[in-house]
Amino acid sequence: MSDAAPFDGPARGGSWKLRGLLLAMVVVVTALTLWRWIATTRLPESVVAGGPPTHVRLVPGRIPGSFELLWTTAEERPDQKVWLKSSPDGPGFVVEGVEQKPFPDPAGSGLVAWRSRVVFPPDDPDSWWFEGEDDHWLEIVWGAVQSRAYRFRTFPSLGEPVTLLAGGDSLDELGPRRRMNDFIREQVEADPAILAFLHGGDFVRHGERLDEWLDWLEDWDRTTTTDGRLLPIVPARGNHEATGPLFDFVFGRPGTTAGAWYERSIGPSLSVVTLDSNRPVQGEQLDWLRATLEASRARRWTIVQYHFELWPAIRPRQERAPDWIQAFEEFGVDLAIECNGHCVKRTVPILRGERDPEGLVYIGEGGLGAKQRTPEPERWWLQAPGFAANAAHVWKLRFAAESVDLEVLSPDSGLESTAARGSAPRRP
Ligand SMILES: [Fe+2]
Repeated sequence: MSDAAPFDGPARGGSWKLRGLLLAMVVVVTALTLWRWIATTRLPESVVAGGPPTHVRLVPGRIPGSFELLWTTAEERPDQKVWLKSSPDGPGFVVEGVEQKPFPDPAGSGLVAWRSRVVFPPDDPDSWWFEGEDDHWLEIVWGAVQSRAYRFRTFPSLGEPVTLLAGGDSLDELGPRRRMNDFIREQVEADPAILAFLHGGDFVRHGERLDEWLDWLEDWDRTTTTDGRLLPIVPARGNHEATGPLFDFVFGRPGTTAGAWYERSIGPSLSVVTLDSNRPVQGEQLDWLRATLEASRARRWTIVQYHFELWPAIRPRQERAPDWIQAFEEFGVDLAIECNGHCVKRTVPILRGERDPEGLVYIGEGGLGAKQRTPEPERWWLQAPGFAANAAHVWKLRFAAESVDLEVLSPDSGLESTAARGSAPRRP
């Protein structure tokens, strides 16, 4: 016994230490799991029970000149109304017919939030307040709860120049995404002529996760200017939100039940055609594309946006959608905007697979927060005035009578000034 004691003693002590260590590990792992669960499944800061509506956003509507207005609340709110006004303190009228539904939660985050949606003007685009390229104000009211005063600009009714921003790939890196959204807001504050934002997809990493979409909406609020100006958004589906109901729910289903392809007019001179690169390029989508491009021949400008890259700066080139390219060329599309690569690029004009001054310029690849990758600028389609670089960025596009001005704006230094600006002639 006495002989065994020195031996047993330390062994018992070691056993307790081991148990203590195991217990500490269990506590740490449980705490970490709990923290991760709480951190990833809480509602964003602005979604507060009884608080003002948040995530207020505009999506151009199906009737040219109309808008869908959408917002988020923590609870169901019957009888919400929208006040539309021609000036902050001026006369206005009430838009009724607000539809409210709970967000779908396909991945089971356990979060509960509600989306409200109303279309205006409800059926008459020629309502008095609607005429001209003017500022308008709106407020959302629910009993004593009232939103801040938002403002927005209607699209031009004549053939005035149109200025847009375009970009994509806002997934994963929340800090960089917020920085880019702040940067976008600064552009809109500096140039109120900017009428809308074209987002080429990959909003979030997991398109079926409600918590990620609510975070995206929370971050998109940062694009609203300090004086409340909303930047209407024209969204394309990326591969990260290829499936699930949340893309359509967040943006009011801009496309069809078969896929997120649709056309929107930004005034009478510009048609924006959005395609869904997650769906078959042929068949129904191709038939629609050809008919839409045929109808848009009357417009001064027709541009297309879609997610995957047809003339990539990073990935190897594949013959992904020759029928789309053929349609773009046949019907004289003026500019193509792509995403997905996580870099910034502009091609030379391309026609029938070759450089041609009469060809179509492809820009984009996405830099709204996604980590930037290194492109291969030696590819023939990226030679000057084309380029490829590695930079968070947004495109500023100005469509005038005879040319479109393409400018890359980046909060990062390193983009050469020669690469940052250029003009594409109107195609025949
Ligand atoms: Fe992508």
